[in-house]
Amino acid sequence: MKLVNGYDIMDYARKYGYVLPAFNTTNLEMTYAIAEGLMCADLPGYIQISSNNLRLSCPEVIAMIAKDAVKKSETPIGLHLDHGKSFEDVKACVDAGFTSIMIDMSHLTFEENVRESKKAVEYCHFYGIPVEVELGALRGKEEDVVNESECKTDPGMVGQYIEDTGCDLLAVSVGNVHGLCLNPQIDIPLLARIHKESKVPLVLHGGSGIPGEVIWEAKKHGLIKINYGSDLRREFIRTFGEAFVADHNEHDVIHLSIDAVKNVANKAKELVRMINEH
Ligand code: G3H
Ligand code: ZN
Repeated sequence: MKLVNGYDIMDYARKYGYVLPAFNTTNLEMTYAIAEGLMCADLPGYIQISSNNLRLSCPEVIAMIAKDAVKKSETPIGLHLDHGKSFEDVKACVDAGFTSIMIDMSHLTFEENVRESKKAVEYCHFYGIPVEVELGALRGKEEDVVNESECKTDPGMVGQYIEDTGCDLLAVSVGNVHGLCLNPQIDIPLLARIHKESKVPLVLHGGSGIPGEVIWEAKKHGLIKINYGSDLRREFIRTFGEAFVADHNEHDVIHLSIDAVKNVANKAKELVRMINEH
């Protein structure tokens, strides 16, 4: 299969009642592993990469690897820009063949957030690409910024924000956090209130560390996409770390890389199955 357009993958998810996981990649190995995990589970989802992680290569290289990784897939897989931090990144990813985009201007004031997000939406919509935006900020490591102040999404601003930006998906801050060091406390009543105000589907960032029971409850409230980064990165790093601890002279990169792909793929398979279990 080719990479699937962002509108089509959402239609597919709605048609079959799936929630789509979006797994963060950084490099070739993780990209192949994510595609492998989704294919093994026979469930749809996204490979995604953040502006921050694009520093290691570039949108064209990631798009090329992702296209190759999904070519044997019989389940829809999209390629998404995660936490797009500039209009230039958005443009570069659309031009490279990404199938959906996030522009994250959640650190700005409401007016600035709307202005910058809208600019990205107009560009992406011209090419038939849906856009995710964020209202409210998350605690934890979001890109290189450690945001300690909790700033949950205000349901009262949701309708206006969606109207003004013209977005297709809304990322929310409801007690979800980035990374593995903080304890996520998902505010389900708040998510339900946001859902009532939102005419677009919702996205939950910071999926790592949220228990299954909480995910199954949360997904009753308009979620179409759940992001997982740290859980997969830990599997990748663990593979190399354990080998080094066992033998400080370990230098077999190819075998360890193949093992890392297997371990990351298994984690992606486990997570996509878990979120679609109930
Ligand atoms: O955008 C990516 C994520 O929200 C990943 O968060 O590393 O806590 O799973 P996580
Ligand atoms: Zn995120």
